[in-house]
Amino acid sequence: MARVLSGIQPTGDLHLGNYLGAVRHWAQDQHEADAYFCVVDLHALTVPREPGELRAKTAETALALIAAGLDPAVCTLFVQSQVPEHTQLSWLLECVASMGELRRMTQFKDKAKDSDSARVGLFTYPVLQAADILLYDADRVPVGDEQRQHIELCRDLAIRFNNRYGEVFVVPEATVPKVGARVMDLQEPTNKMSKSSESPRGVILVLDEPEVIERKIKRAVTDPTSQIRFDPEHKPGVSNLLQILAASIGGDPVALADDFTDYASLKAATSDAVIELLRPVRERYLELATDPKGAEDLLTAGAEKAQSVAAATLARAEDAIGLYRPSRQNAASQA
Ligand code: TYM
Repeated sequence: MARVLSGIQPTGDLHLGNYLGAVRHWAQDQHEADAYFCVVDLHALTVPREPGELRAKTAETALALIAAGLDPAVCTLFVQSQVPEHTQLSWLLECVASMGELRRMTQFKDKAKDSDSARVGLFTYPVLQAADILLYDADRVPVGDEQRQHIELCRDLAIRFNNRYGEVFVVPEATVPKVGARVMDLQEPTNKMSKSSESPRGVILVLDEPEVIERKIKRAVTDPTSQIRFDPEHKPGVSNLLQILAASIGGDPVALADDFTDYASLKAATSDAVIELLRPVRERYLELATDPKGAEDLLTAGAEKAQSVAAATLARAEDAIGLYRPSRQNAASQA
């Protein structure tokens, strides 16, 4: 059975981009593959965080993932920092990665902005991400579009490690959905929808109330020519609405454009579709939030399961790279 792994940062509330680009596909993947999903709290430390808030957001993100359809009885859901093998493997991979390839990462360039005070963790972030993936021998990594470059780097590191030290890692592939892989901000449709957006009006949260979703979509930025066509370059706002509608109902954004003659009806259809898509997630979240302790136990069990896989991969990598582990190496030579 194929292995799948993906992760999400607990840096804010789950938004529509996370849901359409990644999380809803994870809910499907869990039934078709041996699936691992982690809340990557260590990645969140690359920019300043208030400790109490990080802890609370980690638990909330896990709860939101369960509400969005991840079933801890079917997939392995865990918090990254509860499996210390992630940072251990990350160090080995840092000693395989080069400064030049990390400097080329667009996320680093965007976030660090050449500042001397940017954290070293921001620079090595994609190496930790590679460790997340390689520890689980993942064949596929379901992600949104902007993660492609990080997955490419992960592949490069796995291939380089295997060439130098022997076949240790499975080389994974990114799977990116055809529609919904890059949901844009409703107020600034040339920027992707993001947890760190300037304007909350541009971001639809998975737990937003229906009236809030309706208001945000009604006020979404379009353009003065009232033509409806899918043309992300020249009509980013309208194309984003078509993309959101298409992803929500399982249609094609180019074909859907023919169904509308004015912005108001496109916005009304999009908001109805998003409200219906997210309604069950919100309802389930409110139910789950009454027993947050339940999620704690599920995450502990998830981390134990994840660790049993991660420890075996880390041991392979340590042995291959030449770390001193007499008990393991003696056992292997006697076998
Ligand atoms: P993160 O937390 O930013 O986002 C989680 C997932 O949501 C997708 N996504 C989007 N998809 C479509 N439109 C958008 N506007 C949008 N915004 C976010 C992301 O592509 C992602 O799939 N570095 C990763 C977390 C990570 C990870 C991993 C992912 C750490 N380790 C291992 C895969 C495998 C990140 O910051 O995702």
